[in-house]
Amino acid sequence: MTRMPDVAMTAAAQAPSLTELPEWDRFVSAVRASAPRTEDVLDLVEAPGLTVDFSGQRHSDALDAAGRALLEVRGFDEQRARLLAGEAVNLTEARPAWHTALRAPDAPAEVLAERARMDAWVRSADAERRWRNILHIGIGGSDWGVRLAVSAFGYTGLWRQVRFVASIDGHAAQGGLAGLDPRDTLVVLASKSFTTAETLQNGERAREWLAAAGVDPRANFAAITANPERAVAWGVPEGNVFRLWDWVGGRFSLWSAVSLTTALAVSADVLAGMRAGAAAMDQHFAEAPIEANAPVRMALAGVVNRSVLGHGSLNIAPYDSRLAQLVPYVQQLDMESLGKSVDLAGRPVGVPTGPAVWGMPGTDAQHTFFQWLHQGSDGAPVDFILCRAADHHWPAHHRALLANCLAQREALMRGKTQEQARAECLAEGLDPERAGWLARHRMHPGGRPNHLIVLPRLSPYTLGALLALYEHRVFTQGVIWGIDPFDQWGVEYGKVLARGIVDLLAPDAPATDGAGRDSVDAHDASTRHWIGQLKG
Ligand code: F6P
Repeated sequence: MTRMPDVAMTAAAQAPSLTELPEWDRFVSAVRASAPRTEDVLDLVEAPGLTVDFSGQRHSDALDAAGRALLEVRGFDEQRARLLAGEAVNLTEARPAWHTALRAPDAPAEVLAERARMDAWVRSADAERRWRNILHIGIGGSDWGVRLAVSAFGYTGLWRQVRFVASIDGHAAQGGLAGLDPRDTLVVLASKSFTTAETLQNGERAREWLAAAGVDPRANFAAITANPERAVAWGVPEGNVFRLWDWVGGRFSLWSAVSLTTALAVSADVLAGMRAGAAAMDQHFAEAPIEANAPVRMALAGVVNRSVLGHGSLNIAPYDSRLAQLVPYVQQLDMESLGKSVDLAGRPVGVPTGPAVWGMPGTDAQHTFFQWLHQGSDGAPVDFILCRAADHHWPAHHRALLANCLAQREALMRGKTQEQARAECLAEGLDPERAGWLARHRMHPGGRPNHLIVLPRLSPYTLGALLALYEHRVFTQGVIWGIDPFDQWGVEYGKVLARGIVDLLAPDAPATDGAGRDSVDAHDASTRHWIGQLKG
């Protein structure tokens, strides 16, 4: 399965940097020569489970050709093949990023076996009506995907109460445990590494809480990890430990048993549906020609918006409350993957890379920050997401929701000229002087880039397809920028520093521990000051 990355390392190291390529220069020129789309353009791409409307992105035939040439010179076809074949595409960690295998119809035998084991475990818990409460403890990729699926499909209420505890903030654990019946609470520890401080410490609090209630803590724990020995040593019974593999990146792990909580909350069928949708999107990504390939087209638009037009952020606007958790999910996926400025050869990429991702479901977002999107000095590209059909029985609400989404998008695309704004003011009866002044406040620049992603309805299949769309969009941008989208060294550094500082914050911590590990003096003046202030 795994080809070690020597060959690829060499190829990557020898590849010219992006900005040295004539194909990059041609791409930039083509973007600059293209106009923001406004009128009379309809550019739809049909993909499994969804349609992406690209009408709100820069476009020209020259840009299409330049995009194809750029992908070719970056070896996109080969990189994509290596990703999908489970080869070691994560070069800095020398391992594959083979999340697609977890949902492939012909998944590896070990994946199928573990899935069958988890499904049987869930079936037996369901048959016994066990676990009225689930406390899911995990962080980052061991948390967001599960939260997303549970809130997407459990929004009307569940017979099992599900709570999530992620942060090291003790209030999170306190709130997570409060009011639950320890005898009927399953604590799910999700951690690929089983070394994550937050998860282990929160797990300890849950263990103490169970023990204090006279419950044998072992029986009420399950774990999902790529390090089963650690989980067993920690105290989770072997039969309650489910595994994932080193070749699954943390932020791609919801396709594994990390979604045990999802299965207990909203059923294993939901997971099967999500896998089917994602697998269909994988096939589309692998086979569709560039011009009809939704994730690849989104990636090219992402590079246009970030690296050429200079947009520093990307707004995610799901017009569906059930998708509120999609925002942090994509935030981690995109920012942990593309928040890099060095290419695979170790050189500066030379252009701005991953944007800051942020957002909120509509229409709440309209009453929070859409003003900034419409008339702020920067603005941001927006991914609008909506479902054609709703699953409630108030059609007027759904029509209004859809109308708001379309209206906001149209306003961002078309804008409103000063002349139009002035004419409006005059029509409202303002005198010409006031109309001319007010028009400057009421005009919209327009031309803001956007995607509109339309799901027929929110189902496990369409959600799975949507998540795989984003995964492949992120991967393709990584290929164009020449970076490793599967590592996260920046996060690791902060974790190491925190381990040193936490010792220094202990009430009896000496200025130096004598072992040369860390000392207050090793920190900057401000950090030293606050260590002194916050110690205790
Ligand atoms: O934030 C860094 C990170 O390593 C993420 O990539 C990962 O999803 C998260 O920590 C949790 O890691 P683990 O699943 O190993 O506890």
